[in-house]
Amino acid sequence: MCGIIGYVGNRNGSDVVINGLKKLEYRGYDSWGVAVKGNPSISIQKQVGKISDFKDVGSFPSDGIAIGHTRWATNGKVTKENSHPHTCCTGKIAVVHNGIIENYQELKKELVSHTFSSETDTEIISHLIEENMDSGLGFEDSVRAAITRLDGRFAVVAVCTSSDKVVAARKGSPLVIGVGDCAHEGEFFVASDIPAFLEYTNKVVFLEDGDVAIIHDGIRYSDFYGKRVERLPTEISWGVEQAELNGHEHYMIKEILEQKDTIRMAITQEEDRIMRVADMINRSFGTFFIGCGTAGKVGSIGSYLFSSIAGKHVNCVVGSEFPNYHDFLTDKTLIVCISQSGETADTLEAIEVAKKKGCKVVSIVNVMGSTMMRMSDDYIMCNSGPEKAVCSTKVTTAQIAILMKLAYACAGRLDEGNRFLSSVSTKVEIMLDDKYLENVQFLAKRIAGHESMYIIGRSHNYPVALEGAIKMQEVPYIHAEGFAGGELKHGPIALIQNGTPCIALVANDDVKKDTIINALEIKSRGGFIIGIAPENNEVFDFWVPVPDVGLASPIVNIIPMQLLSYFTALERKCDPDKPRNLAKSVTVK
Ligand code: F6R
Repeated sequence: MCGIIGYVGNRNGSDVVINGLKKLEYRGYDSWGVAVKGNPSISIQKQVGKISDFKDVGSFPSDGIAIGHTRWATNGKVTKENSHPHTCCTGKIAVVHNGIIENYQELKKELVSHTFSSETDTEIISHLIEENMDSGLGFEDSVRAAITRLDGRFAVVAVCTSSDKVVAARKGSPLVIGVGDCAHEGEFFVASDIPAFLEYTNKVVFLEDGDVAIIHDGIRYSDFYGKRVERLPTEISWGVEQAELNGHEHYMIKEILEQKDTIRMAITQEEDRIMRVADMINRSFGTFFIGCGTAGKVGSIGSYLFSSIAGKHVNCVVGSEFPNYHDFLTDKTLIVCISQSGETADTLEAIEVAKKKGCKVVSIVNVMGSTMMRMSDDYIMCNSGPEKAVCSTKVTTAQIAILMKLAYACAGRLDEGNRFLSSVSTKVEIMLDDKYLENVQFLAKRIAGHESMYIIGRSHNYPVALEGAIKMQEVPYIHAEGFAGGELKHGPIALIQNGTPCIALVANDDVKKDTIINALEIKSRGGFIIGIAPENNEVFDFWVPVPDVGLASPIVNIIPMQLLSYFTALERKCDPDKPRNLAKSVTVK
């Protein structure tokens, strides 16, 4: 939700920042803006739209200090005026920001003598800094004094004409420093996420909440009040190529196909860590899986898997609703947060609520150094590499595989679970060949003209139906709904008309017969039945085969849904990587 970047070094700052913004576009693409600290003024360009769509981004001075922003609008409409960077009255200070300033209206009332040029909460920061500088403080101290006044979550990067420093600060929203490697010593990057500068360095410092970084010809760290803190860089193992398209037309298809490897990467975990977390689950008095959107559906799949593999009841609650469960929490409760980004505000808030009650927290995340990982007592990494398409695909199946592995560990059958999951991974690898993709592409052409569709599943495949619906909504913009197979006849079946596409998610399990009966009921009302199943059935008008993998059916049944949403989006001329109104990491409530 908004991507920010700053650069200090000998290169042309605008080139580095523009390049970085293109890599951060998955975080928001309503508008973009770049500010270069020239001499004597700051030069700014901003536009509505995706920066990658602009052949001409305007001209900048060649100076080596620059900041930039790609926006997902929260406060203020999608206009050029509301695009970041935001400046103070004189234009001498420019600020980019990711997050939300909850008390900006009160602060604005104090700054009556200032002229505001946008509707955003962010602009308050540049005026506060200006006010502090006017009262005699230096730039660095003025930024500190400004941010201590802010309520909410924020990552802020600021520049000023009278200083060669870039000042960055974080509270609640992610911010990572990149430290130039030997070949590029003396240059520094600061960004919402590592891919923004990964081509220059893999030496990173994850800022902690409450940190300020002062970047000049070196870098210093302090708290919001100026007290020095020590932060050491770590080297991250992602390669540049993992964050690039590598010949694919879109990140979404690249990431779907990467599932040939990512399930195996997800189940390759330190055994001690898995046993430690399994032990926490076994010893807890009440475990909650928490996630939002797709990650929430993964949690629901997990609760079915824990029931059938470990005979354990686990609750699953979406992040935004979890605070309403606070009455059920004690210091014996465990919450397991599931998140690709590790930055989702609703899930982070759930952690805050749980911590206040003394609960233990584990997170299953894909982004090393993410806020969620650092707020947790323990964590498991998904090991999927960067996921850049806005919709989650490869990390979804990685998370299901990890929950399954944990369920086996809780049942004291980890070796059996490992062998089983390894065979599932091999079957996914074999499944995803060109012929398979062609079959789903053919189906996409058949359904692309429909505006509504329904997806049914039972038991472990009920949350898969809900997840399939999210995919069809967010990528090709089809009104899709997922139901428990048994529920359709209690109302929604009235919506079935001649030719309405309905997907039946089937596995070789106890509920197979019932799901087939539900498909028959829909077919009798004219529905066009698409079976995602290990075997064909005469009720199916179209069959998408999947390997027979027993309890791991959610993993293999989700993949054709991902492919279908991708190919249908292409048919409907939608951008699969950057769906409208969405952003990759949802850092606002
Ligand atoms: C849908 C999708 C979203 C995310 C949700 C949580 O494809 O990607 O529903 O799953 O916003 O995001 P994370 O996993 O980063 O917490």
